[in-house]
Amino acid sequence: MRSRVRSGLAVAAAVALLAAGAVPAGASSRPAPGGSGAGDPYFPFAGNSGYDAVHYDLDVRYQPPAAAPAPLAGQLDAVATVTIVPTRHLTSFNLDLRGLEVDSVAVGSRPATFTREGDELIVTPRTILPRGKEVDVVVTYGGATGRPRDIEDALYGWVTTRDGAMVASEPDGSMTWYPVSDHQTDKATYDVAVTVPEGLVAVGNGDLVGSATAGGWTTWEWSSREPMASYLVTASVGNYELRQWTTPGGLLNIDAIDRDLAPAASAGLAQTAEMIAFFETRFGPYPFSSFGAIVDDDSVGYALETQTRPIYSTRANEGTVAHELSHQWFGNSVSPERWADIWLNEGWATYAEWLWSEHDGRTTAAENFADVMATPATSSFWQTIVADPGPLGLFAGAVYDRGAATLYALRERIGAEAFDALSLEWPARYKDSVATTDDFQALAEELSGQDLEAFFDAWVWTAGKPAVP
Ligand code: TRP
Ligand code: ZN
Repeated sequence: MRSRVRSGLAVAAAVALLAAGAVPAGASSRPAPGGSGAGDPYFPFAGNSGYDAVHYDLDVRYQPPAAAPAPLAGQLDAVATVTIVPTRHLTSFNLDLRGLEVDSVAVGSRPATFTREGDELIVTPRTILPRGKEVDVVVTYGGATGRPRDIEDALYGWVTTRDGAMVASEPDGSMTWYPVSDHQTDKATYDVAVTVPEGLVAVGNGDLVGSATAGGWTTWEWSSREPMASYLVTASVGNYELRQWTTPGGLLNIDAIDRDLAPAASAGLAQTAEMIAFFETRFGPYPFSSFGAIVDDDSVGYALETQTRPIYSTRANEGTVAHELSHQWFGNSVSPERWADIWLNEGWATYAEWLWSEHDGRTTAAENFADVMATPATSSFWQTIVADPGPLGLFAGAVYDRGAATLYALRERIGAEAFDALSLEWPARYKDSVATTDDFQALAEELSGQDLEAFFDAWVWTAGKPAVP
């Protein structure tokens, strides 16, 4: 039964790639152009092939909108240095970039020619890039920033705000502000420097290297030593107060709280240290070197688990804080190999919210599960195929709630001992990597010693309300 589903998916993938005209790179050793996509059926042009991006050094200067005339527009001027390692001999290669203007591209410090096609920046270096030889690609670019939207019409990417920018890029919005291999299969480390008018703060992921002010501009430097998927990169700008503190366990937190917000807006952060300690007992060591929050008085309409530093729209609620924190294990350290696998992010994060709620003496996981299962079988809620929700269904309610119910039901099915082992082993085995729904089923089978084919078929590969085990 599953092989039928799976081959259906493979055919759909091939059809989507053909329909979209994406070109996968060949595997021969003959020099050839890189491909325009990483092979994700939902977003055929996201990411690229023919090379691995290993590091981004972004140097961005940003002037937020002057007053508040509609439409909001800022000005961004930047130099991106992308270190790539060709995985074949390359005659040309692609980066993803939407909007903005490219002034110049250099490869290995020699000028290169480039063209733009849709959201693809196609770079042709002077000479063939040999497979395996690391090389720096320097892109000088800039232009007016606006308020980009994803295919569901939600704000994402570099979202210009009254006093800065909110940068939240799931699934493919990083290309709205820097040239990138914009898919989680190509994780990289980052050094990001953002220069903003003095008085404003730019907040990135990872560690704060420092800040320096000269001539009315302040440069904020951030560094992420752990590999990061492009959709988790932020460089948000606002009227923030930075608060640094350390958990009893020794983890540095850097919170950026908008000064224009009332204290109640960030009250949901109060139990962050307890949450980290609690999740570490369930999911293993916190996967990164720091944590924190960005709470902005503007809104993109949702919160995002930007790596080490989730971003919140106008308010950080306690449940949302638990959700975004748990994503550091589920989504950020272990990322979905294809966007179809997003329930591995959202199901786990919702289930983690249930665990925290129960631990904190409120609604139990059993009650939350019962709530989901109280949804009538006739409801359209049950029509989403959790492990293949479609590109417009990434954030469907069922991806979150049926995804969480799947994990609860799996625990009932394989028992607490095997499930607890799975909760620790999944983030450990796939740390700093990507994994699929099949990988998850395989690990659950390995740790439980059970054949879970029918279980996963019913819960994530089939529409319709599953029977409670
Ligand atoms: N991944 C986010 C979370 O669950 C949610 C999210 C990202 C989202 N982009 C969105 C929700 C667009 C709605 C619309 O934490
Ligand atoms: Zn989430």
